[in-house]
This record gives sequence, structure tokens and C-alpha cells, in this order.
Amino acid sequence: MPTPLYDLLKSLAGRDLLRMDMPGHHGRPLPYELPWPSQLDFTDNCLTGDLFGDETDAIARAERLWAERFGFDACLFLTGGSTQGIHTGLALLAGAGGRIALDRDSHRSVCNAMALLDLTPRCLPRPWLKAEAAAGPVDPDGVDKLLNDCPDIKTVCITSPTYYGVLSDIPAIAAICHARGAKLMVDAAHGAHLPFLGYGGFSAADAVVMSAHKTLPVPGQTALLFANGFSLDDLRRVGSIYGSSSPSYVMMAALDLARDYMEREGAEKYRATTRAIRGFRDKYPALTERPGLALDPARLALRCGDGFALAERLRGQGCIPELADPGHVVLISTCADSPEQFALLDSLLSKEDWSNPAKCPPPPGLPPVALTPRQALFAPRETVALAAAEGRVAAGQIAPYPPGVPVVAPGEVIQKKTLAYLTEIGYNKKLVDVIRD
Ligand SMILES: Cc1ncc(COP(=O)(O)O)c(C=O)c1O
Repeated sequence: MPTPLYDLLKSLAGRDLLRMDMPGHHGRPLPYELPWPSQLDFTDNCLTGDLFGDETDAIARAERLWAERFGFDACLFLTGGSTQGIHTGLALLAGAGGRIALDRDSHRSVCNAMALLDLTPRCLPRPWLKAEAAAGPVDPDGVDKLLNDCPDIKTVCITSPTYYGVLSDIPAIAAICHARGAKLMVDAAHGAHLPFLGYGGFSAADAVVMSAHKTLPVPGQTALLFANGFSLDDLRRVGSIYGSSSPSYVMMAALDLARDYMEREGAEKYRATTRAIRGFRDKYPALTERPGLALDPARLALRCGDGFALAERLRGQGCIPELADPGHVVLISTCADSPEQFALLDSLLSKEDWSNPAKCPPPPGLPPVALTPRQALFAPRETVALAAAEGRVAAGQIAPYPPGVPVVAPGEVIQKKTLAYLTEIGYNKKLVDVIRD
């Protein structure tokens, strides 16, 4: 399989060039103990091409291979995580000003993007799944109703899959958006592996952001922005607003190589991982597929009586989970995990008492809105004790991290029931930024 960017960098590395440009290591090993492929770590010069420049270079060819593999018109490599992709995608689809339909389970980067673009959200409902004690998929009918009620809204932004692996029906939601003249952006930060497992739903959307680094074997911060109906030139123009003008060629080459690796052997390894996860879901209480609930087959969201305590016990035995809440522990499993690692995990989980049901309260409902995200971001602020913040307007996000989904978004009023909910879910920050009275 072709890997155009990696091949170019490797051939340049083999030429013993006198490198008098960036980065400062000039292609030599770092002079301290930190292995790094300096020889492949170039900047944009006339030999390597420009991430935000000429469409014909090796980077563009590598991006094209990703776009074709995932069924999109264009793909932009990102070295600033999905955060960069969310800013870029919303600027591309929604532009500045106006309203968007927003999945309330959105990552905090969406709040920041809305503030910078002066967008105002209308929130899309998600059902609370009592048995799973978790938020369910975005309801396509809810999207249709909101777009019908608010014909000025021309951009819809949802997250799929969620941290817990819940997938929404992207083709159905995209069809509704398109029928109403709106565009759909999907934050698929947790889903970069899914098309390699045969999941084809993403390409129905107009823009999709994926944190390759979350679920594929690539370095931190590597991510991908895919789009339909936009050219690579469009993505580069807007992406360059939010990206470094010195993007890492090592990170981009890793994206190039990872696609090839996934085609050759990674997908098969991922399939073995999904079989192991199915086994865990059968053996331990966990979110499980059922009619009306589609899940990422690689994500293990365990249900338990006390997620924080379970996560602590696992950490104490050398196992680092991704997320804990009062009723769950979420583990990210990938093609990097082997049968030995799953056997170890099984031995840890088998020691646990699984008789207590998950006790996760549903979110307290949407708070009243006092200011737009932009007004709240730039208003004078002060820091107060969270416990004393009832009735104040949030200047920042109150968001347990992970998952980084705001319980209170900037501009929203902090209510008594929200403070009670935050205590119930074990939110541990004692201070909060509020708008100065
Ligand atoms: C749903 C979701 N979207 C976006 C992001 C941001 O991704 P990144 O860390 O790659 O910038 C995250 C990070 O956890 C996330 O969970």
C-alpha cells in the first residue's frame, strides 16, 4: 500500500542533507534520553510540502488516501487533536454568527468554538437510558423537530460515538439535515477505528472529526478532519487558522503509516479485540448492544456500584481506565491490546463484586441561559466557591474531565439542582468562574 508522505521523508532522511532549517535538532538524535525519529522530523521546506499549501504534495496524496478509504471528498491531517478539527469544522460549516443545533453531550472544545465564532446553540435532546444509567443516542426525530421549529438553523453538530461507545444513527440524521437544507458535523473523536471495522455511517455527514490518537496506534494529538462537499483547499484555508504553521511531519507521517498498517494487519487485530470485548460484555455488567442501542464494539463501559472506587482499585493494580463516573468504568481497547492483556484484565475484573447496580443519576436538565457563549467568554469574571455559586452565571465550563461534557456551559445559570447533581456525581473542583455581578 502507498505511504507517500512517509516514503518522501524517509528518502530525504537517507540523503544526509545539511539541514539548516527547523526543527532545531537538524535531524540528529535528541541530546537527552528521549527517543525521537529526528531524521524524519522535517519542517515545510521546498522538499517536504506544506500542510496548508500546495494541493499536489505528498501530504495531499496521503490525505487523499484517507479520504478515499473513509468515503469522503477531502481529508485534512490535524496535529492539534480533534480540538483543532472541531474549531475548523464548525467554522467551515456554520461560519460566524447565527444559531446551530447542538448535541448537549458535546465536548468542551465545541463550547469554545461557538464562543469564538459567536454561535448560539439550541440543544438536541438525548434520552436517558435507565437500565444503562447513561445517555442514549441522538434522536433523529428530535433533530427533525428542532430544524422544523428553527428554520434559520443550518448546522447540526453531534457526537458519535460517545465516550461510553453509544453510536447515533448518522445516515438517518444526515438525511434529515439535508432534507431541511442543513449540514451535519459529527464529532467522532472516539471513532477513528470504526470504518476499519466495516462501519460506514460517517460518510453520510458533511464534516467528521476523528482523534486518530484515541483509538489507533499513532502519537498523541494526531487527528483527522473529513468533509464532503468541500475541497482540500477549503479545509486547508480554514484549518490553517487553528493549526500551527510548523506542524509535526513525524505526526503526519504516523497518520500516513497508520492507514497502511490498519489495512494490512491492524483491522484484523481490532476484530480480535472486539471479540474479546464481546466476551467481557457477556461476563460482566456492561453496556451491551440491543435494539435501539448501537455501540462501538471495541469500547467496554462496565457498570458497577461505585465507578470511582473500582477505577481506584484497578489503578492500584496497574490498570489505568480511561474514565470513571459513579456507575461506570470505561476502558478503551484497541488493536494494540493482546490476549495476554485481556487475560490480565479478566483476572482483575473477576475479583470484583458485581452485584451492585450502577447508580448514575440522570443529568439535571438544561439550565436557563443568560448569555451567549461569546458574551460569557469575554465578560468580566471572578472565581467563587462552587458551593456558593447558586444563581450565578457560569463564565467557564463546569465539566468533569473526562468526558469533558459541560454540565453547565458558559452563559448558563448555575442552579441548586445542578449543584446537587455535581455533588452526586463526585465532581471534585471546589471553585468556579462566574460572571462578575
Ligand atoms: C467527544 C470528544 N470530542 C473531542 C475531543 C477533543 O479531542 P482531542 O483531545 O483530540 O483534541 C475529545 C477529547 O477527549 C472528546 O472526548
